[in-house]
Amino acid sequence: MINLKELANKNRKFLQNTSENYYFSPGRVNLIGEHIDYHGGNVFPTAINLGTYGIVTKRDDKNFRFYSVNFPDFNPKIVSLDNLSYQEERNWANYASGIIDAFVALGHKIDHGLNILVYGNLPNGAGLSSSASLEVLIGVILRSEFNLQIDMLDIVKISQQVENRYIGVNCGIMDQFAIGMSKIDKAIYLDTNTLDYELVPLKLGKFTLVIANTNKKRSLSDSKYNERRSEGEQGIKILKDHGLSFDNLCELTIKDFEENKKYFSSQVIQNRIEHVIYENHRTISAVEALKNSDFIAFGKLMNQSHESLDVLYEVSCKELNTLVNAFIKYGAIGSRMTGAGFGGCTISLVETSIVDSVIEKVGQEYYEKIGYHADFYPVNTSDGSKKMESGDIE
Ligand code: GLA
Repeated sequence: MINLKELANKNRKFLQNTSENYYFSPGRVNLIGEHIDYHGGNVFPTAINLGTYGIVTKRDDKNFRFYSVNFPDFNPKIVSLDNLSYQEERNWANYASGIIDAFVALGHKIDHGLNILVYGNLPNGAGLSSSASLEVLIGVILRSEFNLQIDMLDIVKISQQVENRYIGVNCGIMDQFAIGMSKIDKAIYLDTNTLDYELVPLKLGKFTLVIANTNKKRSLSDSKYNERRSEGEQGIKILKDHGLSFDNLCELTIKDFEENKKYFSSQVIQNRIEHVIYENHRTISAVEALKNSDFIAFGKLMNQSHESLDVLYEVSCKELNTLVNAFIKYGAIGSRMTGAGFGGCTISLVETSIVDSVIEKVGQEYYEKIGYHADFYPVNTSDGSKKMESGDIE
């Protein structure tokens, strides 16, 4: 664990004064229910104890200054309250300026700047939602520093809108919701259509969830993500043109899909829709299985989810498949890619007593096949984004 007070002291020149406040925002991992949150489906993520820390001091002027300990070569990014529009050269600080911009547009009184020192221990771009973690962090900082009347659900919704409209990634609400609303030792069973949710105790008996990061550099992921969304839209149009009436694709039953799939002239579009409909039902079954402590059934559903994401939705890749296959070969009872795909991470259910040996064998096989190393993290859950109490700060 990073010593935050020491970090603040080391960066006193940036923070300028000593009355700082500390904040933490987690990352998230999705257990099942992938690529369906933008079709009103059911998802099952949990927040993890890796995330983004913010150390904040007040300023008298109208400037927000951001400095990331993760990118020590870069100068602080300065965002003036007089110019909150997206600017390429602001780089990662656009996630922050986007949130400030949205708060101001909603009429929240933000009348002075802040110094915000950011430190993250989530691997960047690994599919554990480092960007959503930063967005919700900034929302929580603004709420607390300016005493704003805004609840967490609104911060979550604003963060998703910033990602969609300001950053330009057409993501669903799962990441921001999990990051804002999670509770330690629970996973969130979320209906992304109604935003009804249930905090399900993550009681795994003799099993442990293990995240593995492919460490594959992703570049095309955002455009491919938007491409999957537009393929979904094409499928929806075909179904509606043939008389089906629905607001969200995930309202359709498996029977609806099977009876109407004959209308798809493109196999690719049919495959995309098939994934969405079946994945939604798999999530419902998986939550049921977990509540009944039927871990074997949960693991099987994870495997089916991966196969569907690989073959039908085509968002997996050699690196993810290598990890999933190796995990299963060496004893995991379930394994799948998690997040947007095209690289990023897998999540696997492994008997706790063999976790170390499985990680060693999977790590070796991955290195032999791919040529560089994967990283492994057992899942530790976390509360959602919050101001840290003095007792939480080392
Ligand atoms: C990304 C998006 C989420 C979700 C997942 C895939 O993480 O931000 O909204 O669509 O991909 O399940």
